[in-house]
Amino acid sequence: MKITDTSDLWWKSAIVYCLDVETFMDSDGDGTGDMQGLAQRIDYLAQLGVTCLWLMPFYPTPDRDDGYDITDFYGVDPRLGNHGELVEVIRTANDRGMRVIVDLVVNHTSDRHPWFLKAKRSVNSPYRDYYVWRDDPPPRGQKNTVFPGEAKGIWTKDEASGQWYQHSFYEHQPDLNIANPAVRDELARVIGFWLQLGVAGFRVDAVPFFLEMPQGARIPDPHELLRDFRRFLQRRSSEAILLGEVNLPYDQQVQYFGGPEVNELSMQFDFIGMQAFYLSLARKDPAPLIEALTSRPVLPEDVQWANFLRNHDELTLDKLSDAEREEVFSAFAPDEGQRVYGRGITRRLPPMLGDPRRIRMAYSLLFTLPGTPVLFYGEEIGMGENAEIPGRLAVRTPMQWTGEKNGGFSSAPPSRLVARPPGDGYAPEHVNAADQIKDRESLLHFFRDLMSRYRISPELGWGAFQALEQPVPAILVHSLSADVGRLVAIHNFDEVPATTRFALPDEPGGTCLVDLLGSERIELDEKGGVEIEVPGYGYRWLRVARPGDGRVS
Ligand code: GLC
Repeated sequence: MKITDTSDLWWKSAIVYCLDVETFMDSDGDGTGDMQGLAQRIDYLAQLGVTCLWLMPFYPTPDRDDGYDITDFYGVDPRLGNHGELVEVIRTANDRGMRVIVDLVVNHTSDRHPWFLKAKRSVNSPYRDYYVWRDDPPPRGQKNTVFPGEAKGIWTKDEASGQWYQHSFYEHQPDLNIANPAVRDELARVIGFWLQLGVAGFRVDAVPFFLEMPQGARIPDPHELLRDFRRFLQRRSSEAILLGEVNLPYDQQVQYFGGPEVNELSMQFDFIGMQAFYLSLARKDPAPLIEALTSRPVLPEDVQWANFLRNHDELTLDKLSDAEREEVFSAFAPDEGQRVYGRGITRRLPPMLGDPRRIRMAYSLLFTLPGTPVLFYGEEIGMGENAEIPGRLAVRTPMQWTGEKNGGFSSAPPSRLVARPPGDGYAPEHVNAADQIKDRESLLHFFRDLMSRYRISPELGWGAFQALEQPVPAILVHSLSADVGRLVAIHNFDEVPATTRFALPDEPGGTCLVDLLGSERIELDEKGGVEIEVPGYGYRWLRVARPGDGRVS
């Protein structure tokens, strides 16, 4: 028996929106965004069409890695609010049809976490073994840090004991020892706590690092620990998900779904597809993207890819070859100052792509990729980065609500803002939500349209991808087919208009293509063929309407 409603697996056709409470909306004028500010903006997100909010870390933190350095896994940073206000956010979001997921950052703690302070105080403390230590200096040629130029190596000496502790990221982020059962119990309790408060799952930070076992640990298969967490999660909440950050080649990445039993992560970001997307944009040629999508492992029904074009980190290009990376760098980050760690770009998408038609084409394509789209706040209005802020923080500027002071984010004096908005052509006076809400032709309305069409097209989240044969090298015509229907999308990577021809020979006679972003209805010829003119950077969403299939659009 198979009874699956598409809504049972809600994450397969969700629209995820990532935001940092700290930079979203400041309700009390202290210069820092807060829970109450976010609560006031839930209706904006609901109107946009978001169905799942991903809250970046809001836990107590010394804030040396933008909140990814946590001192209390159960807390809410008092600068941002309290548990009561968070619950209000969750309730309001739920009421408006949105689920809320939160960052789970358990590869490490802050070095000011009470566990680490106690661990350092005495080698005999039970907390000592919460972390990973070694007696000898790290061997030469040790693994490189994730943040070259910002961190030295992955071991730091604790002067008091003479031992070295491991940190995959910054030296103020000691790695937790997941081989220790007491640590695993603590982490399960953390998961249970937030579920009880009403979250619908977690964006799991740095999963491969988290599963890395200390040398000598007697754990035969670290994935068993991830399976344990998943079992625990599902016992507590059947609808909750784990959306994992796993930036690895597909053949390794797929193991984090847990094989045919799909008992590890429920979703994973597609870093490979994202990087190929940019290479395709730079070359004006969809071939690299097609190659990535067709080499994606085929997944069991319950799990899903999460597609994105931009996130809160550097736009990493680490999985491209050196030559490919150079191509993307020279197209989109010509200045050294726009790059970081030798592998990534610190810009947002609009300043990189420039031409407004090209920006829309890219987002249209994002929403038609097989999988679930994930947006980073501000993408829907075309925010740019603040080039004066170095490194990854350049893209983490306040949400631009209006053209007024501080972009309407806060009434604080600009000097007290948690981060400054850009002052260039992407400044709030030029790019803000209020102006775009009033303008039917704006990028914001374009996003609303995409999102409303995505929501009535479950074949996008569920469908099988096929690149259709057609004659124009700069054009991608692809279809997504599922039980619920089929959609054909056309995207032109070049500014030059062109005419494409393709066929759907397996569709029955009388099938039409219904333009979901316009009003046209195109009949296929007797061989299932069709010819379509595509403007420069044009895009079309065409529903395959079979005779009598009963869908209204
Ligand atoms: C993840 C986060 C990043 C953070 C790092 C360490 O990669 O996305 O922002 O710095 O983990 O927690």
